[in-house]
Amino acid sequence: MSEGGLYSLATRGAKDVIDFAMPRVLQALTEIKPYPDRMTIADLGCADAGTSLDMIRGAIHHIQNDSPETQVTIIYADQPANDFNALISIVHGRTRFESWVDQFDNAFPLVSGSSFYLRAVPDESLDLVFSATAMHWLSTKPCNITRHVHMVGASGPEFDAFARQAREDWETILLCRAREMKRGSKMVLVNFCRDEQGRYLGNTGGVNMFDTFDEIWKEFVASGRITRQEYENMTLPQYYRTAEEFSSPLVEPESPCFQAGLRLDSLETRVVPCPFSEAYKRNHDIKAFADGLVPTVRSWNQSIFKAGLDRGRDPENRNQIIEDYYAAYHRRVMDSPQGHGMDYVHAYMTISRV
Ligand SMILES: C[S@@+](CC[C@H](N)C(=O)[O-])C[C@H]1O[C@@H](n2cnc3c(N)ncnc32)[C@H](O)[C@@H]1O
Repeated sequence: MSEGGLYSLATRGAKDVIDFAMPRVLQALTEIKPYPDRMTIADLGCADAGTSLDMIRGAIHHIQNDSPETQVTIIYADQPANDFNALISIVHGRTRFESWVDQFDNAFPLVSGSSFYLRAVPDESLDLVFSATAMHWLSTKPCNITRHVHMVGASGPEFDAFARQAREDWETILLCRAREMKRGSKMVLVNFCRDEQGRYLGNTGGVNMFDTFDEIWKEFVASGRITRQEYENMTLPQYYRTAEEFSSPLVEPESPCFQAGLRLDSLETRVVPCPFSEAYKRNHDIKAFADGLVPTVRSWNQSIFKAGLDRGRDPENRNQIIEDYYAAYHRRVMDSPQGHGMDYVHAYMTISRV
C-alpha cells in the first residue's frame, strides 16, 4: 500500500466502509459483556490505521462507558512491508487525523507486523477481532491469469486455481483466529465480495473498473510498450469471495473451522458508494473526479503492476510506464466520466468463538 500516510488520504471510501461496520462492532461488544478487567482488540490489515481511528475510539468508549476500569489494548497488525512509521504517527496524533490515544487513560496501542496468515498472539488472548478490506489479498498467487489482470475476469482452470487458493487461505485465516480468540469472543470482518447480484468493487452497473485496468494494459501490450509476459505477471493476487464461500466453513459442522469453535452469527452484503463519483454527480467537476479516483485506485494496485514489469528494465523506464498507465486511466475518466467509479461491495460478518 502507499506509504507516508497517503493511504488514509487517498481512501475516504474505505473509512465509510468501516463506519458502516460500527453498529456491528458495538453489537458484538454488547454481546460479550460482562467486560473483564483487561481486554484486547485486534485490527488486522489496518494499513496506516487512519481509516479505523473512529471505529476504535467508539469501541473503547463503548467498553469503558460500561466498565470504566477495564484496560483496553489495541493491537494494530499488518504485514511486515506495511509503513509502520506512518501508522505510529497517525495513531499517536502526529498528523491531521484525530487520535484516540490521549482521549483515554486506560487504552494502549500496540503494533504487530504479523500477517493474518499467521497466529500473532498467544491462544485465547483476543476479545474482539476486527478487519476491513484486507482478506481479499491471497497468501500467494496461484497462477498468472492469461486474459485479464484480476480473477473477476478469469475463467476455467485459472479461475478454479484462484478459488481453491482462496478457500485454503480463508480456512487458514479462520483457524489462526480460532486459536487467538477467547471463548465467547467475537470477530467482525468486512471483506470485499461478489454479491448476490454479481456486483463487486468497481462493478455496480457502470464502467467495469477491472476491465478498464485490463484494457489499458492490453493497449500497452498492443503498442509494444510492455511485453505479453509482463502483462501476465501483473495478475493481482486477490480473490473476491461470495457470501457462500465466506459462510460455508462457519456453518458446516464437519469443517475444521466449525470444529475449532467458530460460528457465523450474521452476514450481509452492502454497496458503499464511491465518494468521488458521488461528488461528481453533485458538482459535475470532471477534473476533481479524475484527480480523486485515480490516486485511490493507484494506492492499492500500483505496487503489483510495477512488480510485474521486467526487472531488467531501467528503473526510470519502469516508473515512466507506471506514470503513463495512470495518466491513461485519468484521461479515460476525463474524456468520458459517466459510469466510472469505485463503489465498494462488501460482506459484513460477525463471527463468534464458542
Ligand atoms: C485496502 S487496505 C485496508 C486497510 C484498512 N483496514 C481499511 O479498511 O481502510 C488492505 C491492507 O491489508 C494489508 N494486508 C494484505 N495482506 C495482508 C496479510 N497477509 N496480513 C496482514 N495484512 C495484510 C495490506 O498491507 C493493507 O494494509
